[in-house]
Amino acid sequence: MPLMVEQFMCRSDNFGVLLHDAASGETAVIDAPEERPILEAVERTGWRPTVILTTHHHPDHVEANLALKERFGLEIVGPKAEAAKIPGIDRTVVDGETFTFSGRPVHVIETPGHTAGHVCYHLPEDRLLFVGDTLFALGCGRLFERGPAEMYASLSKLVALPLETTVYCGHEYTLSNARFALSVDPTNSALKERAEEIERLREAGRPTLPTTLSLEMSTNPFLRWHDPVLRRNLGMEGASDEAVFAELRKRKDVF
Ligand SMILES: [Fe+2]
Repeated sequence: MPLMVEQFMCRSDNFGVLLHDAASGETAVIDAPEERPILEAVERTGWRPTVILTTHHHPDHVEANLALKERFGLEIVGPKAEAAKIPGIDRTVVDGETFTFSGRPVHVIETPGHTAGHVCYHLPEDRLLFVGDTLFALGCGRLFERGPAEMYASLSKLVALPLETTVYCGHEYTLSNARFALSVDPTNSALKERAEEIERLREAGRPTLPTTLSLEMSTNPFLRWHDPVLRRNLGMEGASDEAVFAELRKRKDVF
């Protein structure tokens, strides 16, 4: 039976996610941005959390760690490189490691860029990927602790995963990301269609996530460094993929 997922809003634009195996009753919380909406989701679903999978140390991803640990006695998993900044952490993970959630493999993919030790969690059997603040719908994370070369390498690892993978991200930033994406790739018909759909969803107060790697590959400029039209728009036909990515990130920072 596939894992069940409950996605909900926390704070102003963070996503909370519960991941549940009905057979075993085990439930993972993907990051812990805010206690109250997480407790409401637990109440709504009846899924008692057994573990928190932390993507990175930022306060809006770990704020509810200790409160949830006290209430549910759960285990907290997170990146080794950021362990000192993750409240209540019990078990550290590193790049390339596989552990199990409810008997299913979870692959740890280190994706430095937004933070130095950021990790993503890939559950290949259920085709699920939790990317925190590394990748967003139509965007990518800001480079706070590492540079564009590291982030390019990190995103390259994610796009090597199967295209039909479902992607859950840390924030609802899609509408503003769409405006930037259209500014650099205005003739991309898949992007134009998606931007219209995003407007409709946001007007209706609905989330634009999750997404898929396939959809991001066709519309997200931060994964389209290879695309000849995008390169021409940037005046970077002969540049390296990494340089195209770095230019996009720089432009988005001041957009
Ligand atoms: Fe963050």
